[in-house]
Amino acid sequence: MTQTTRFPDGFLWGASTAGHQIEGNNVNSDWWRKEHDPAAGIQEPSLDACDSYHRWEQDMDLLAELGFTDYRFGVEWSRVEPVRGHFSRAEIAHYRRMVDGALARGLRPMVTLHHFTVPQWFEDLGGWTADGAVDLFARYVDRCAPIIADGVRHVCTINEPNMIAVMAGAAKAGDQGFPPAGLPTPDEETTRAVIAAHHAAVKTVRANHPDIQVGWTIANQVYQALPGAERTTAEYRRPREDVFIEAARGDDWIGVQSYTRTKIAPNGPVPAPADAERTLTQWEYYPAAVGHALRHTADLLGDDIPLIVTENGIATADDSRRVDYYTGALGEVAAALEDGLNIQGYLAWSALDNYEWGSFAPTFGLIAVDPETFERTAKPSAVWLGGLGRERALPRGVSRPPDRGSRPVPDPGRLPPPPLP
Ligand code: FCB
Repeated sequence: MTQTTRFPDGFLWGASTAGHQIEGNNVNSDWWRKEHDPAAGIQEPSLDACDSYHRWEQDMDLLAELGFTDYRFGVEWSRVEPVRGHFSRAEIAHYRRMVDGALARGLRPMVTLHHFTVPQWFEDLGGWTADGAVDLFARYVDRCAPIIADGVRHVCTINEPNMIAVMAGAAKAGDQGFPPAGLPTPDEETTRAVIAAHHAAVKTVRANHPDIQVGWTIANQVYQALPGAERTTAEYRRPREDVFIEAARGDDWIGVQSYTRTKIAPNGPVPAPADAERTLTQWEYYPAAVGHALRHTADLLGDDIPLIVTENGIATADDSRRVDYYTGALGEVAAALEDGLNIQGYLAWSALDNYEWGSFAPTFGLIAVDPETFERTAKPSAVWLGGLGRERALPRGVSRPPDRGSRPVPDPGRLPPPPLP
């Protein structure tokens, strides 16, 4: 019998998405403009994405049917405020319908107010470091009050602020792209601005809804020091991660997001070895990442702030590797829970195969989406992972190496299993 660890009371069990990656036709966002600017060198535009702007009910039906109890989705600022100071009642009503729709299906909504994209007018002003940017964001958050009014327990102000600062740093440095290992140096001014924006947003959400649990979600690269590189690693990690984790002090929870690891030698990050298994994003296959990320976050913040895994997953065309990845990852979460970490939920990235910031090729989804008909098909990994929600228990398995021959296929449950790619 497989050993399992029970979910703590109230444990969130779900999947995450982001507005721009699934909705389609976010024509007023900075990303849309970039996607259509040949100079930006973006592989392909998001266009209709998964058409979830119209098909969100199907997405939620499927997630609830699979056994998930929580759904993290985003509100697009550029839809709610397409022109500076003009707030769309219709879009606010749209996102409120999504909240009501989730609740009606037994899915607890976690609402992200900002996930990488900003309205074009905000970018034209100068983005996060422009005069008044923090107040403009806080005003938008205030206008989102009706969306999160009743029934929403968790709100995320800003997704991966550390990646926003890293991208700004890369852009300022002439945008030579990312180094072969590690991340560009974050822009300090942007770091200060997004931290201020987060604190302003927390205040605004609390003023409107004192019962909502508010926090933000941090990208954790699981920096691992090679012998003699402990100090370099700590110094490298600090501006890219730790300052953002520490800025969560006083929040109601913090989101932990991890996918892979980065090894650091005394002279800096080193690429994974040539023979390491890589995923479709070229990241090293490393399911243990989430355990390290949770422990590092808890080390910095202590027990005061609950941890929620708000993203974790793998881009692969081989769904059996996805099951193995999640098996390894959940084993780490279970072990961390047993060690007493205050982990209050696990949300997989991602519910759907979606627009992965420049390309549809890296498929992170538990659910496949036909690019022409938009038909959704749950993969076996979705059936298996969702099913754990019914048992309310995490498996204590370990992930297996790729070429191990036959392996037990997860129980397809009530949904017809799709053919594996
Ligand atoms: C995270 C983002 C998310 C998705 C995953 C793969 O950095 O928050 O939108 O791109 O990575």
